[in-house]
Amino acid sequence: MTDPRTTLPEGFLWGASTAAHQTEGANHNSDWWELEHLALEQGPGGHIEEPSGDACDSFHRWPEDMDLLAGFGFTDYRFSMEWARIEPAPGEISRAAIDHYRRMVEGAHQRGLRPLVTLNHFTTPRWFAARGSWYGEDAADRFARFAEAAAPVYADGVDHLCTINEPNMVAALLPVLAQAAAGTEAGGATEQLATTGIPEPDPHLTEALTRAHRRAVEAVKSHVPHVRTGWSVSVQACQALEGAEAAADAYSRPRQDVFLEAARDDDWLGVQTYTRIVVGPDGLLPVPDDAERTLTGWEFYPEALGEAVRRTAELAPGVPLVVTENGIATGDDTRRVAYTSGALAGLADAMADGIDVRGYFHWTALDNYEWGSYRPTFGLIAVDRTTFARTPKPSAGWLGAAGRDRRWPTA
Ligand code: BGC
Repeated sequence: MTDPRTTLPEGFLWGASTAAHQTEGANHNSDWWELEHLALEQGPGGHIEEPSGDACDSFHRWPEDMDLLAGFGFTDYRFSMEWARIEPAPGEISRAAIDHYRRMVEGAHQRGLRPLVTLNHFTTPRWFAARGSWYGEDAADRFARFAEAAAPVYADGVDHLCTINEPNMVAALLPVLAQAAAGTEAGGATEQLATTGIPEPDPHLTEALTRAHRRAVEAVKSHVPHVRTGWSVSVQACQALEGAEAAADAYSRPRQDVFLEAARDDDWLGVQTYTRIVVGPDGLLPVPDDAERTLTGWEFYPEALGEAVRRTAELAPGVPLVVTENGIATGDDTRRVAYTSGALAGLADAMADGIDVRGYFHWTALDNYEWGSYRPTFGLIAVDRTTFARTPKPSAGWLGAAGRDRRWPTA
């Protein structure tokens, strides 16, 4: 019998994650590109400090990215398709864009990487945003039609498909982004998690995203029944001070729990964890002054991952979990190794206690566009902002090797 605290389970996914808008570059037809340029016109002060521009130029350089990841020892790779490229106008499907993502699926396999493909990672086509985005009357149908049109990409060679990345963050932040577009934004989105917590999602939006997920699952399954579908939720460890259990529950329920419970009939559920939130009787507590903070201002708290998967398993019992994101924004790669080994120790413990986790994807492969700025560096690989040259950090080889050796890494 193998020891689950040292050996990776048979078939366990071991990869790094990326998202199209954050890495591909020149995503002209997306709502975010539009927002970034509105922000430029509005001048400094808002959440968007700089546009994504060419990002990491991964639209062209994806073979190099995959070569590196496979070379480190990873066996899996999570990337997203860009809806704005595949469906540049309503109902108009770009054959070339479909072929591009199909080549990525095949290219991953050629290098020994199993692709986990995300249909939607935050960005949508401009035309979809102009019709009210996820609030739009026919949003779920539109999304399902896109999922269907993209079937040639995942028709074969893709076991896991994620419909929507972090629907809970979308539900919380879409209204904030709308304010940003109107020039009336109150504060930075990423930093909100560290200070005031994320805003409470509009229940209409929660419902609309849940509907879109379900419709997309149906569309995917009707074309490619063997694909395992799920969505990935942002699940931060939520802790209550003594006596504040009800307040913690009230915080976490609309922001996380309902999205986890909505996955009870799914094939798998993605968990994306970075830090913890602590709730007292009067609400969210600030990060303590003496705590170590990451470049996003979040508390350095590796234990969050183990706590988050345990909580998720309670809310979606019996659904296999996949950690689709976990990582740290830091300029000091030794802290990345420290954070990740702590997070993985908590994950291995949870699994040894019987929590059914099927994979781990680190956020992220490359230093990339962190929704408004290139400053928070989450990558295993540094990217030169003018030449796009990739320089692996020591953490990349350290983490990847565990995939090759099939053993949990130790710091
Ligand atoms: C998102 C990523 C993001 C990361 C770090 C997640 O919310 O899925 O796109 O870059 O966290 O903020």
